[in-house]
Amino acid sequence: MDFRFNVNDFLKNKITKVNNTLLPEKFSGDRRSAGLCSNLLAEVVDEMGLASAKAQGLLKPITSAERLRNSEHVVYLLAEPEGNNGKGSVVGLLKMGQKNLFIFDATGLNHEKMSLCVLDFYVHESRQRKGYGKILFEHMLREENTVPHRLAIDKPSEKFLAFLYKHYGLSKIIPQTNNFVIFDGFFYNDCKQSIGKTEIIDNGQVTEADNLYKSVSRQSYGDYHHIRSDDHCNAQIYGRQPPYKPLSTIGKIVQSSPSTLETTKRSGVQFHHRLFYMEFNL
Ligand code: ACO
Repeated sequence: MDFRFNVNDFLKNKITKVNNTLLPEKFSGDRRSAGLCSNLLAEVVDEMGLASAKAQGLLKPITSAERLRNSEHVVYLLAEPEGNNGKGSVVGLLKMGQKNLFIFDATGLNHEKMSLCVLDFYVHESRQRKGYGKILFEHMLREENTVPHRLAIDKPSEKFLAFLYKHYGLSKIIPQTNNFVIFDGFFYNDCKQSIGKTEIIDNGQVTEADNLYKSVSRQSYGDYHHIRSDDHCNAQIYGRQPPYKPLSTIGKIVQSSPSTLETTKRSGVQFHHRLFYMEFNL
């Protein structure tokens, strides 16, 4: 994305981290230049946030300068210094933040957990599927000292789910009732810690347990590069769909018993009798 001003003046690195000051990390300069810089960065964040919302078919942007200013979130911006006739272009945005989530583990237990979340992710249309997303994501992983399976993803799009599968082999989703998607391995560190009876302090940062998880998981991350997104079937189920609702006990009984289903279709009264009978036999 091109701007009327020279983005290279304030986006000095390929990837720049921006927080609620709306200044690049490690910015140095006087008050006047800080004010100027934060105004221009606000414009960049607003435009990229808008483009991201459009790309995802959202009515309102998830990312804006105003929202960033009033939060503890951070935005990573990926720039192309040679773009726009040497004035530089901005090609990617990734917004991260901590959120206190109520989430289910694979056994159905609910946990309250401060989790590092991917809140918004966008690569300009002209640069998609060329590896820019991966460059940005990998940079974030290093900065946040985390691994993909420790992240909660806010309403991932199909493209993002395909991205996570292709680059990191993430496919086993642990169903939630909120809009967040987490993958198998998200709680791995907690299990290890509780087995070792240590206090669970979790800020989503990578630990030895995560490294162990990677080594014991079926394939290492590098093994997924041959996969194209078309092979990824989970995307249709989880990408920006209504939130998952766990089946009720009655739902499970009905599902597991074809004869019950048959009865349900025929008569509501018979259906109740049948369930009553089954519950007593459990
Ligand atoms: N259709 C299906 N899969 C796609 C698509 C697409 N149009 N674009 C990217 N992907 C996935 C595929 O797995 C692809 O691999 P493949 O080309 O071999 O099939 C892989 O991503 C490519 O990886 P990168 O080139 O590193 O990723 P890219 O630079 O395209 O960035 C991103 C990925 C950010 C998802 C980008 O496609 C994008 O901006 N999409 C539109 C906005 C969006 O959906 N953002 C995520 C919203 S959800 C959230 O932010 C929490």
